[in-house]
Amino acid sequence: MFGLGLKKRNKTDLRDTPIPEGHHLLEVNDLKMYFHTQDGVVKAVNGVSYTLDRGETLGVVGESGSGKSVTSLTIMGLIDMPPGKVEGGDVLYRGKSLINMSEAELESVRGNDIAMIFQDPMTSLNPVYTIGRQLSEGMRLHKGLSKKEALDRSVELLRMVGIPNAEQRVKEYPHEFSGGMRQRVMIAMALACEPDILIADEPTTALDVTIQAQIIELMQELQHKNGNAIIMITHDLGVVADIADKIMVMYAGSPVEFGSALEIFYEPMHPYTWGLNRSIPKQVQDEKKPLTPIKGNPPSLVDLPDGCPFSPRCPYATDLCRTQKPPTHVTKTGHYSKCHYSNDEQFVQANAPKTNRVKPGDIVPERGVDA
Ligand SMILES: Nc1ncnc2c1ncn2[C@@H]1O[C@H](COP(=O)(O)OP(=O)(O)OP(=O)(O)O)[C@@H](O)[C@H]1O
Ligand code: SF4
Ligand SMILES: [Mg+2]
Repeated sequence: MFGLGLKKRNKTDLRDTPIPEGHHLLEVNDLKMYFHTQDGVVKAVNGVSYTLDRGETLGVVGESGSGKSVTSLTIMGLIDMPPGKVEGGDVLYRGKSLINMSEAELESVRGNDIAMIFQDPMTSLNPVYTIGRQLSEGMRLHKGLSKKEALDRSVELLRMVGIPNAEQRVKEYPHEFSGGMRQRVMIAMALACEPDILIADEPTTALDVTIQAQIIELMQELQHKNGNAIIMITHDLGVVADIADKIMVMYAGSPVEFGSALEIFYEPMHPYTWGLNRSIPKQVQDEKKPLTPIKGNPPSLVDLPDGCPFSPRCPYATDLCRTQKPPTHVTKTGHYSKCHYSNDEQFVQANAPKTNRVKPGDIVPERGVDA
């Protein structure tokens, strides 16, 4: 029955263990992942903190190279060490440290409790196995399905992600699929075991707009059914506008702002978030205003500026910004921003994108996501 040498799981899934009191489903505490390279130490993830609960969606937003993928790959235990090294912090899943887990324990967490849709579908599919076998493997291993059950479910999953002629396609190899189709296979693979946490790293970039919307809807349907959490990684703040409960804005390896989606869209405190906001293609109330891309490039992660990492590009930078690291300003709701001037209400009022500011007496529009 298990001709591929797979073993049926006989231990309790971590996802079945209750979350200890005082803990969250996922807690990332001051996580630091550095790469030790010939050119120096790349501070790819430099103090990332957030919490995530069941049923919640976290959007992780930032430009290329800001550490979005490395943060999630560290959580999954998928960074090669060396050159990578966890320089500090911890990740707790249901109160249990993922950083201190053995490789065997992590293997049972990966794909089953926490699954990731990888950014590059080709590197994560094995070219020598059929799509059906690759989709089945996790379900046989983690869910104890028979070969036939797993294959039937694979066909069903391929259909769900919009792959036509799924009975035939399941027997084919990755090279027989286009980029967009492979991306859908990756999504099907991540959904196969109905994980407790689904990490989607730019999951829809290779797909056209209609399919993108279908895939996001599918992820949300499953979330509604299973109560799982989603981490959605993207360059584009607009992509997470309608689906995220919380948003973490990353810059040069660190979160610069974190808050509920409403806070990030209606009360953003950090100039980098304002810049991202002004570069979203469609702001309904703001259609007449031109898009303003953020000028310049992010700094080298080997040689970060002394003060605020955003200071070389920030239109509001002062000498203080250039010489001293900004503190973290936290509001009562846990909305935080790392900018010297985030608690200066006058500065924020004067410079934040106007249409997104909540004025006293404003009614904040309700979002269509159940708590
Ligand atoms: N194995 C490695 N060795 C050295 N540096 C690395 C390694 N892997 C990643 N990095 C660096 O870590 C930084 C963060 O990379 P990461 O892939 O997390 O960025 P990202 O925000 O996901 O970007 P993108 O939007 O382009 O996917 C980058 O500067 C990258 O070059
Ligand atoms: S600390 Fe200064 S440079 Fe950094 S974001 Fe704030 S105003 Fe801009
Ligand atoms: Mg990435």
